[in-house]
Amino acid sequence: MWDTLWVDANLATMVSGAKPYGAIPRGAIAAKDGRIAWVGFAADLPGRPETLAREVRACDNAWITPGLVDCHTHLVFGGDRAREFELRLQGASYEEIARAGGGIASTVAATRSATKRELTTSAARRLVGLLHEGVTTVEIKSGYGLDLETELKMLRAAGELAASGVRIKRTVLSLHALPPEFKEDRAAYVQLVADVMIPAIAAEGAADAADAFCETIGFTADEVDYVFSAARAHGLDVKLHAEQLSNQHGAALAARHGALSADHLEYLDDAGVAAMAEAGTVAVLLPGAFYFLRETQSPPIEKLRAAGVAMAVATDCNPGTSPLTSPLAAMNMSCTLFRLTPEEALAGMTREGARALGLQDDVGTLEVGKVADLAIWDINSPAELSYWLGALLLRERVFAGQVVPTIE
Ligand code: NIG
Ligand code: FE
Repeated sequence: MWDTLWVDANLATMVSGAKPYGAIPRGAIAAKDGRIAWVGFAADLPGRPETLAREVRACDNAWITPGLVDCHTHLVFGGDRAREFELRLQGASYEEIARAGGGIASTVAATRSATKRELTTSAARRLVGLLHEGVTTVEIKSGYGLDLETELKMLRAAGELAASGVRIKRTVLSLHALPPEFKEDRAAYVQLVADVMIPAIAAEGAADAADAFCETIGFTADEVDYVFSAARAHGLDVKLHAEQLSNQHGAALAARHGALSADHLEYLDDAGVAAMAEAGTVAVLLPGAFYFLRETQSPPIEKLRAAGVAMAVATDCNPGTSPLTSPLAAMNMSCTLFRLTPEEALAGMTREGARALGLQDDVGTLEVGKVADLAIWDINSPAELSYWLGALLLRERVFAGQVVPTIE
């Protein structure tokens, strides 16, 4: 007997194929021991619902999608950067502020002086925004510590957020900015990350992957290459902030390391697209950062599509370039700013987001055997998820088969 059976529902399974959204109208879905045990047309159920499951939940014709996967966030950090926002509105650029010692460095100072508890508390508040829009898996990066102690403090704080009924994947991003104490010796910092920080973080199991900021104001492709080799040697997956503000050929480098994803990609060139296609590296689109920095060059969506590169969409929630805690707004922006279809946007926040985290066998679609992570929405069509801005659409969030109250 199943544990729970949802009926009177329409399913957007997001299984790729001929049917838009992998839709099953008038469908039903069942969970047992936290996994999806049955999915299909309600008419094909092998008996009367009450005889099949301990609990039957009627959905009033709601739509059920996979729980959303926000595959790129910096949810854990100290302070905020509202002052920097004001400076940018007065004409200062993101790069100028960074070079003057503001930007990421100011968040590093605030994060170093925060306790783990303060970090968990402020991140938990941001996480609520994600959960209220159906997120069941979220990736969280370090990168505002830039020393072993603070990077571990961030990653441990991120791990504690799993208590909110959400799957957390953690990524070490120590190559995010050069810490002030290494201003005169960047080689020594890169060495420290590769030889000490990555091994210690991997040994604690505090991260699943390593990331870096490959940019003129971040790290060179050679520096990233060196740290990625260390990360791979310690069993971590890799992913990269690539081609956000300029073309550093980071995506091709990431692809050479078999990266799960290359993220941002506004300045990605044809060789980068080809390398990603060849390696199966997911393109993670971050329209919140594009919007907030008032960028004008869009990632090469048409070329990614033509090359068959999977495209994920994420919030990039962070204090500097994307103070965004709404995955649905990110989906909306991916349509309005990058011209994704609403179906691509939802796939980007489910199936392809899962792939960008290496979780494609467990989450991201509604298929028998996958984890029963569901988002149940009061909408008439799945395109509405990319259409509204700020509407309360979620009816129920289900994490590993358990209905989780959305309003705390
Ligand atoms: O994804 N670009 C680098 N990292 C972040 C921004 C970090 C910050 O400004 O605090 C991003 O855009
Ligand atoms: Fe980011």
